[in-house]
Amino acid sequence: MAPIILFLLLALSFTASAQRQTNITLGSSLTPITNSSWLSPSGLYAFGFFRQRNGYSLGVFLSGISLKTVVWAARRDDAPVPGNATLLFTSDGRVVLTSAQGGETLIVSASQPASLASMSDSGNFVLYNSDREIIWQSFDHPTDTLLPTQQLKAGAELFSPVSETELSTGIYRLKMQNDGNLVQYPVNTPDTGSYAYFASGTDGAGDNVTLNLDPDGRLYLLNSTGFNIKNITAGGYPTKEAINMMKLDTDGIFRLYSQNLTRNGNRLDVWSSTSNKCDPKGSCGLNGYCVMKDKEAECTCLPGFEFVSQGNGTSGCERDFDAENESRCPKVSDFGLAKLLKSDQTKTFTGIRGTRGYVAPEWHRNMPVTVKADVYSFGVMLLEITCCRKNVDWLLPEDEAVLEQWVYQCFQDGDMDKLVGDEIVDKKELDRMVKVGLWCTLDEPSLRPSMKKVLLMLEGTVEIPIPPSPTSFFTAI
Ligand SMILES: *[C@@H]1O[C@H](CO)[C@@H](O)[C@H](O)[C@H]1NC(C)=O
Ligand SMILES: *[C@@H]1O[C@H](CO)[C@@H](O)[C@H](O)[C@H]1NC(C)=O
Ligand SMILES: *[C@@H]1O[C@H](CO)[C@@H](O)[C@H](O)[C@H]1NC(C)=O
Ligand SMILES: *[C@@H]1O[C@H](CO)[C@@H](O)[C@H](O)[C@H]1NC(C)=O
Ligand SMILES: *[C@@H]1O[C@H](CO)[C@@H](O)[C@H](O)[C@H]1NC(C)=O
Ligand SMILES: *[C@@H]1O[C@H](CO)[C@@H](O)[C@H](O)[C@H]1NC(C)=O
Ligand SMILES: *[C@@H]1O[C@H](CO)[C@@H](O)[C@H](O)[C@H]1NC(C)=O
Ligand SMILES: *[C@@H]1O[C@H](CO)[C@@H](O)[C@H](O)[C@H]1NC(C)=O
Ligand SMILES: *[C@@H]1O[C@H](CO)[C@@H](O)[C@H](O)[C@H]1NC(C)=O
Repeated sequence: MAPIILFLLLALSFTASAQRQTNITLGSSLTPITNSSWLSPSGLYAFGFFRQRNGYSLGVFLSGISLKTVVWAARRDDAPVPGNATLLFTSDGRVVLTSAQGGETLIVSASQPASLASMSDSGNFVLYNSDREIIWQSFDHPTDTLLPTQQLKAGAELFSPVSETELSTGIYRLKMQNDGNLVQYPVNTPDTGSYAYFASGTDGAGDNVTLNLDPDGRLYLLNSTGFNIKNITAGGYPTKEAINMMKLDTDGIFRLYSQNLTRNGNRLDVWSSTSNKCDPKGSCGLNGYCVMKDKEAECTCLPGFEFVSQGNGTSGCERDFDAENESRCPKVSDFGLAKLLKSDQTKTFTGIRGTRGYVAPEWHRNMPVTVKADVYSFGVMLLEITCCRKNVDWLLPEDEAVLEQWVYQCFQDGDMDKLVGDEIVDKKELDRMVKVGLWCTLDEPSLRPSMKKVLLMLEGTVEIPIPPSPTSFFTAI
């Protein structure tokens, strides 16, 4: 049925048809196997059950094409349900999922009972009250996708999915902040610059800035009085036989896709927020570090660590206990580290930046942020792996300062054993790691060594001078 409806759609221009809607009345129901969805008038979009893993989930998807593209998922973190579940638009105006055993789950939580639902050709699933006022709409609760005419409002966020086939909440978010800035962060991090890996740079544009998508694929920001304050994409992509949508992908990059609506039409990725797949922070898991190799992201473990699960970079890294028995710090000049340092050295840095959430002090001052911010981050990592025996994760700025000062104190007192407890370690190696770590984490960026020098110092190729106290320059600035 769907392909026939689709041919009808092709005669219509997208914008002209977007307002049309299929009305769904109280008492209607859907089941996963038969009558599984409510189609929009053109048949382009559907609200209903779609297959996910070993069961069914609910949402809005492109129904007219062979490969279903889910554009909105209801209760995305809930487990899929078996084929004997039912979706009910109850006579008292609620949209609920009922299990064969009789259990009920509210699918959308509107403030009042609905008297009508609709699936529109814009892809919006809407609930109305008895006065025909909108009381809930899927466009106001985006998951990972923005459709043409849909807005991401101030305070709202998109969350990446776990994978292409598992739509529950993944590890990245894109937030339309109340300060007017559109920013990307890993999930579970505060909304502060040091955790950000993309920003539109429009903070200060006033309250209620919105992210908008036009049918031709132009993504732009409007301020509260409706002025266009920034175009993120230029637009101009075909709208005939195609639909342009924006999606925050699993890898933390948001992309503009042009879905060809003709039979066997494909989906083209026409624009992405970055070409550097290492930009999204934390993609390599605990103790991992991302390096670009032939335009692809590759995870590397920090010195002294190995992959938790071989061949799976995103699983993160754990201590390599075999190596540890020989020396607390395994060969730091190994291939992985050399590559990591080399890649850092050749990057150029602009905009908001930092690495893995280690906040270089220049962030907090009105100072230019350069490649030395990454030297700083690397230094904190060195100190942490060397001295803390804990997994490298998001450190708070306060912890960093305390760590540096504590390490320096032990170093100054010649009390390095304190740093490693009862561990039997190679003293020379430890001494090198600590000294390099202290140099890298100096407050004043110009005093930090270059990454190239860091590598030579870790290898033992060059002498490492005694590092100054971490606080002595702090007070001077
Ligand atoms: C659907 O309901 C709306 C609001 O009551 C009404 O304006 C529209 O004509 C209805 N559409 C159809 C196809 O019945
Ligand atoms: C599907 O829904 C239609 C309209 O509500 C109904 O007439 C038809 O019997 C249903 N089909 C099945 C198999 O339940
Ligand atoms: C519904 O389906 C599930 C999974 O197939 C099954 O375990 C359960 O017993 C079924 N419930 C009823 C009432 O048929
Ligand atoms: C929106 O932008 C326009 C043009 O820059 C500006 O004149 C207007 O004051 C802005 N509105 C708000 C609420 O900041
Ligand atoms: C922003 O939106 C909120 C909620 O709709 C409203 O109360 C507030 O007045 C708006 N602010 C501006 C500057 O438009
Ligand atoms: C954004 O693009 C539109 C269409 O090309 C153009 O009219 C508008 O001036 C641009 N706005 C800004 C702020 O660059
Ligand atoms: C969509 O695909 C068809 C068939 O592959 C092709 O002829 C058409 O030009 C494509 N349309 C767009 C807008 O890319
Ligand atoms: C890789 O590891 C992650 C995290 O442990 C896991 O969720 C994912 O399924 C793994 N992928 C593969 C291909 O094994
Ligand atoms: C490393 O040392 C631990 C603790 O002494 C010991 O249990 C383990 O077997 C050793 N591993 C290897 C590979 O020698």
